[in-house]
Amino acid sequence: MTLLEIPAETFREASIPVLETERLILRAPRLEDAKTIAMLANDRRIAENTARIPHPYKLADARDFVATVNLASETVFLVTLANETVIGACGITQDGKANEIGYWLGARHWGKGYATEAVRAVIDHAFTDLDCEALQSAARVTNPASRRVLEKCGFQWTGVGLIRIRALNSSAPIDRFRIDRGLWASLKSWGKMHRVA
Ligand SMILES: CC(C)(COP(=O)(O)OP(=O)(O)OC[C@H]1O[C@@H](n2cnc3c(N)ncnc32)[C@H](O)[C@@H]1OP(=O)(O)O)[C@@H](O)C(=O)NCCC(=O)NCCS
Repeated sequence: MTLLEIPAETFREASIPVLETERLILRAPRLEDAKTIAMLANDRRIAENTARIPHPYKLADARDFVATVNLASETVFLVTLANETVIGACGITQDGKANEIGYWLGARHWGKGYATEAVRAVIDHAFTDLDCEALQSAARVTNPASRRVLEKCGFQWTGVGLIRIRALNSSAPIDRFRIDRGLWASLKSWGKMHRVA
């Protein structure tokens, strides 16, 4: 088999590493995940707190997500439990100027510290393997859980803004957050990332 005969998905999936945390595994999305992704993401609370997720979110949306994710400058993981149950997604979009972290979990998995654990793994990956110098994120001002996740991961508030929310077909106010390599290294060396939890 020549390189040109290897399916594109092989390269896409191969370029996304597997990250392991105490309770979670983060890995590339696969076509067989589409049904579970659609079931978890078809939730207005998720769509209205993320920029690009439509509502309702159908199986075709999930299939399209799996087929096109990680083709451009992004590194998006599915988040699973150790028993391989898919619980959500977390990733970084790199557009040259900024590296933006985004995440969502199915509602049945909220409130167990999973988002914080997944985002910390992606931050470590960004600074250790992707050569990022700084990361940004944002949360709607009406989304204290997401704000708290970012704070627990060492992000600092930098200001306010507006973001276009596809599911609302309008813009909404957000708080913006940032963490740079120096702050991350300090937090890691002081062990504060874990004591804040
Ligand atoms: C935001 C989201 C990812 C959080 O997932 P999670 O696994 O429940 O998060 P964690 O358990 O790691 O942490 C949540 C924190 O928020 C706190 N929290 C939850 N609801 C809260 C509320 N209404 N007010 C204040 N704090 C709240 C929790 O107590 C916890 O903090 P603590 O550990 O100090 O007690 C999840 O709710 C989600 O997917 N929401 C919809 C999509 C979304 O908002 N994505 C983020 C886009 S910016």
